[in-house]
Amino acid sequence: MRVLVTGAASGLGLALARRFTERGDRVLATDLAADPRDAATGTSADGGTDAHTAAPAAYRRLDVRSETDWDSARAWVEAEWGGLDVLVNNAGVAGGGRIELCSMDDWSWIVDINLFGVVRGTRAFTPLLKEQGSGRIVNVASLAGLVHPPGMGSYNAVKAAVVAFSETVAHELAPYGVGCSVVCPSYFRTNLMASLRGGDTDLAAHMTQLVDKSPISADDIAAAVLDGLDRGEELILPDEPARAAYALKLGDRAAYDAQLRATAARVKEREA
Ligand SMILES: NC(=O)c1ccc[n+]([C@@H]2O[C@H](COP(=O)([O-])OP(=O)(O)OC[C@H]3O[C@@H](n4cnc5c(N)ncnc54)[C@H](O)[C@@H]3O)[C@@H](O)[C@H]2O)c1
Repeated sequence: MRVLVTGAASGLGLALARRFTERGDRVLATDLAADPRDAATGTSADGGTDAHTAAPAAYRRLDVRSETDWDSARAWVEAEWGGLDVLVNNAGVAGGGRIELCSMDDWSWIVDINLFGVVRGTRAFTPLLKEQGSGRIVNVASLAGLVHPPGMGSYNAVKAAVVAFSETVAHELAPYGVGCSVVCPSYFRTNLMASLRGGDTDLAAHMTQLVDKSPISADDIAAAVLDGLDRGEELILPDEPARAAYALKLGDRAAYDAQLRATAARVKEREA
């Protein structure tokens, strides 16, 4: 298969690029840095990808905020491969913060990367995939797109939008033979929190702990994503905490609301 991964210099993108490469797929890894040596460190905070060191053969700079970068990535794919089988819209940043603390600039920043980055990528490749009559778009959202903890308004909102957009794309492109999956993991170890904005130091400390202390590595998530794709799943919940949290919301809404209100009450206690 011919696979393009965004945000592939670190964390989940790096782990996915390695896993696809290892199983013999052709991978175009992309990220912000112009030079892959500045991007791919080979070690990442995920604590799990080092066992999988297969380096993707091709790397290009692709800032998901730039339509020009997307156009040139598509031109590269068409010239080098004559098409694309899997587009993984993985690049993302961390945001959030209590409502009055997260500025509109921070909202615009996270919408531009985590939501519009996915939209730009999907728009750039949809004509090609429709013409091929094949291919799959894989959007990395988050469990936060399905269950919505307090204090994380901007992150929850953009990830929920990615879930809604992905379902729309799956339905809209099905008649053309093109699929779309959305990935909704819980917290796992990566460098994600280095990007955090949102003006809320209390929340930042809490979220950083959840990511850094998670028992789940980026490679665990990457392996589960590939399994989910092999099964043709459109909603991929790649870890047990994510499956349990979403099942609670669907199965016992009162318990779900009580749990998140207790979380909000603890935040209020810390304010006092
Ligand atoms: N780590 C978690 O706990 C967690 C949980 C759920 C979902 N996610 C999602 O997983 C995805 C990958 O994040 P990660 O945890 O591996 O973090 P990470 O910070 O380790 O990797 C993210 C990569 O995206 C790149 N990136 C950031 N902005 C970019 C842009 N404008 N254009 C191109 N690349 C850009 C970064 O350079 C980095 O290499 C994100 O969408 C994130 O929201 C992460």
